[in-house]
Amino acid sequence: MDRYLTPDDLAKSLRQDVHDGLTATPKTLPPKWFYDERGSELFERITALEEYYPTRREREILTARAPDVARLTGARTLLELGAGSGEKTRLLLDALAATLETYVPVDVSGDFLEGAAAALAADHPAITVRPVVADYERHLALLPGGERRLVAFLGGTLGNMPPAERVAFLGGIRATMRDGDALLVGADLVKDPARLVRAYDDAGGVTAEFDRNVLHVVNRELDADFDVDAFEHVAVWNAAEEWIEMRLRSTTDQRVRVGELDLDVDFDAGEEMRTEISAKFRPERLRTELASAGLSVTELWTDPAGDFSLTLAAPA
Ligand code: SAH
Ligand code: AVI
Repeated sequence: MDRYLTPDDLAKSLRQDVHDGLTATPKTLPPKWFYDERGSELFERITALEEYYPTRREREILTARAPDVARLTGARTLLELGAGSGEKTRLLLDALAATLETYVPVDVSGDFLEGAAAALAADHPAITVRPVVADYERHLALLPGGERRLVAFLGGTLGNMPPAERVAFLGGIRATMRDGDALLVGADLVKDPARLVRAYDDAGGVTAEFDRNVLHVVNRELDADFDVDAFEHVAVWNAAEEWIEMRLRSTTDQRVRVGELDLDVDFDAGEEMRTEISAKFRPERLRTELASAGLSVTELWTDPAGDFSLTLAAPA
């Protein structure tokens, strides 16, 4: 497994992010840090929840459209950013069997990636699987190239970035692309806010556990003493921005010590700290953002219910 993100790098950027986020007003923590091995497993559980429709819908689209992706791209290399378990990607690997030589799943969650990549490799002996532990916000330029490369960014993870960062990120992907390459991006669509809130605040509390996992990560990695049970999970629809916000609300006045940063942080009872945004798109907005990054839409597919989208784009 290639590692562009050494444990040292990871520790350094976690320290920086936690310092910046906990000293800001309002306090925030970036969603990247949900994903240690437990966080990745919790996310997998989320994908199976009745309330969490995005994974199911994207799988429906891939089931119907993976052959089109194969026909339109003839990809020889598949580079997947934020691959996670790569379960849905199996549909692409199968559809691309005639041309695909190499699959490069990229993820910040190294241990989880290693297991997922081994399972995919065992089921696809004709394909070289080369997992890479990297931060796609920092290491795009280092990732393997190759002719007829398809870059996949599935699950709606693009929506976890704020708009300006999104366009810069898409521009960064575009800068690594050559003629004949393509980008496949999954994006969740605007819909009834009540359904959205349910998807991010499931009755069984799995998303709440996932949200609070960031506190476990900070406790373990930075010698902090967050009382995890003294924070409750909140999911709200921000209608102006058209995104879901996940927050952690302090249930009491409390002081948290982050030993590694020599930092004490005070939370008021009821104070909320944002841990994630998950933007929901309108197709026009996706086209516009892709165009701003120098990418033009080849196909934009949705599932029959119109819940989720999958867009194939190419250098404009
Ligand atoms: N693509 C999968 C997983 C989505 S969950 C799916 O559609 O189900 C988001 C994934 O992105 C997680 O596996 C997480 O570890 C990874 N991730 C989040 N931020 C990242 C970053 N900055 N660099 C690399 N991977 C990241
Ligand atoms: C990875 N990402 C697209 C998920 C989402 O829906 O924004 C993360 C997630 N957060 C809560 N549930 C799932």
